Amino acid sequence: MRNINNLLLVSIFTLFFLVTAQSQNKAYPYDIQKKVICENGAVVSAHVLASKAGVAMLKKGGNAIDAAIATQLALAVVHPSAGNLGGGGFLVARLQNGTTTTIDYREMAPGKAHRDMYLDEMGNAKFSESQNGHLSSGVPGTVAGLFQSHQYAKLPFAQLIQPAIDLAANGFIISEREARSLNALKNEFLKYNTIIPAFVNTTNDNQEWKGGDMLIQKDLAATLIRIQHEGAKGFYEGETASLIVAEMKRGNGIISLEDLKNYKAITRLPHIFDYKGHTIVGMPMPSSGGLLVHQMMKMIESKLKATDGFLSPQAVQLMVEVERRAFADRAEFMGDADFYKVPVAALTNEKYLNQRMNDFVFGKAGSSEMVKPGSIPIIESEETTHLSVIDKEGNAVAVTTTLNNSFGSRTVVGGAGFLLNDEMDDFSIKPGSPNMYGALGGEANAIFPGKRMLSSMTPTLVLKNNQPFLIVGTPGGTTIPTSVFQTLVNIIDFNMSTEDAVWQPKFHHQWMPDRIDLEKGFPITTRKALEAMGYKLIDRGSIGRTEVIKVLPNGKFEAIADNRGEDAAVGW
Ligand code: DON
Repeated sequence: MRNINNLLLVSIFTLFFLVTAQSQNKAYPYDIQKKVICENGAVVSAHVLASKAGVAMLKKGGNAIDAAIATQLALAVVHPSAGNLGGGGFLVARLQNGTTTTIDYREMAPGKAHRDMYLDEMGNAKFSESQNGHLSSGVPGTVAGLFQSHQYAKLPFAQLIQPAIDLAANGFIISEREARSLNALKNEFLKYNTIIPAFVNTTNDNQEWKGGDMLIQKDLAATLIRIQHEGAKGFYEGETASLIVAEMKRGNGIISLEDLKNYKAITRLPHIFDYKGHTIVGMPMPSSGGLLVHQMMKMIESKLKATDGFLSPQAVQLMVEVERRAFADRAEFMGDADFYKVPVAALTNEKYLNQRMNDFVFGKAGSSEMVKPGSIPIIESEETTHLSVIDKEGNAVAVTTTLNNSFGSRTVVGGAGFLLNDEMDDFSIKPGSPNMYGALGGEANAIFPGKRMLSSMTPTLVLKNNQPFLIVGTPGGTTIPTSVFQTLVNIIDFNMSTEDAVWQPKFHHQWMPDRIDLEKGFPITTRKALEAMGYKLIDRGSIGRTEVIKVLPNGKFEAIADNRGEDAAVGW
């Protein structure tokens, strides 16, 4: 009897141990903070391990640029749907010496690209080729951008890349949400790759992931080590470049060794304007973000009454109407200013912006000219990514980076382990045909070899008395400029707390299609009032994943991560 009792006890113990061990293995072991207040520096990004990689560099004596580089490299491993080596991005920085600058590392059309490359014999747009697979990729800019930013950093690049190498080589635990997003694209990964990438779980019969699994990326680790040893050449020349071109040949891609060797990140003057005692520092072309936010804020400046209140019908209507007008200008006038004369001064002229609002009537919906009937699909994936970083030395960095949509072209460079972008779809592949975000365009954003496709990415700094005040940005395609616009208005005009400014519902109008997209939780009374004014309303999923750092009056940093995703603020 005693033996049986002992056996029972041992069995119960073993069972308990196994269950606990398994659930510990399954559990997501990383602690995510959405709000942090700290003194020495902070990083907010889409993944806690990437935010931690950045803060680790601050602790080692690095500055905000060191942290931004380490965070981006870690995101390329732990947030592969958007963090990247094979994509591009923009950095806006306020440096310790008081100057502001930007770095454009947007992808570039390959030398063999031409304006009609995505049209069939009938002249119809072939979105399948501009949005997926080898032909959808522009020449990647990220690695060049990271090295260009490194001129402002303090630590050796080899040190900044180490956390990413460790995460790729040793692996990290994925969450339920990450497992779902990898599983959702399994068939695409199999379709667009000749060599099965690490994103398909080959250790399992059903090739599916679950939360708690470990994702190891050996090929990616090897690529990162090549970059660690050889610098930018470890990506744009030598083995990695050969692997990219070999991958192109296995598909129908056109990126060549020459395209890679010739890629350059470009330092550009920021797009700067004043708003109610603040200096807003944004990205110039080929991002439409800085210019759109400028137009929208100036069009509301004298009309928005703080008393109208956040999400009141009056405030929403006014903001929707300025969004409509700014996006109409985007479609007509904006593109890579190195190839097309973008009339920036005219578009931001005070008289012009006042005139733009002449036909605005409070209480009555405006109307967009109908270019093309029918509606476009609502994109709900947030697959660009933004990071905000600050240090105590006075450096503030906003970076938005992307592969375009979720996991970009879905094509992984065989043997090199990183995804290529599908950014070519951000060009206007046919005048009047909306891209995957419904954005329209024409001549200004037509494809040309070496040209950079127009972007909506809007990394933004706000300064007060030339000191950092806010660092803001988000993913979300065309909803990016409207999310940044609304976040700034929420903080500056409506005096909202930073978390409310980020976490409360957002809305979006982009001229075409003529409708307002509303996020969950939008107040019912305002919905009804907008409908009565004549607006068409559409419900949609999350709008953006906005990451904000605010400098508080006492000099401390308040870092807020969006609660729409698994984004995390880490401070020091
Ligand atoms: O540069 C752009 O505007 C787009 N490629 C951004 C894509 C994006 O934000 C994806 N997230 N939904």
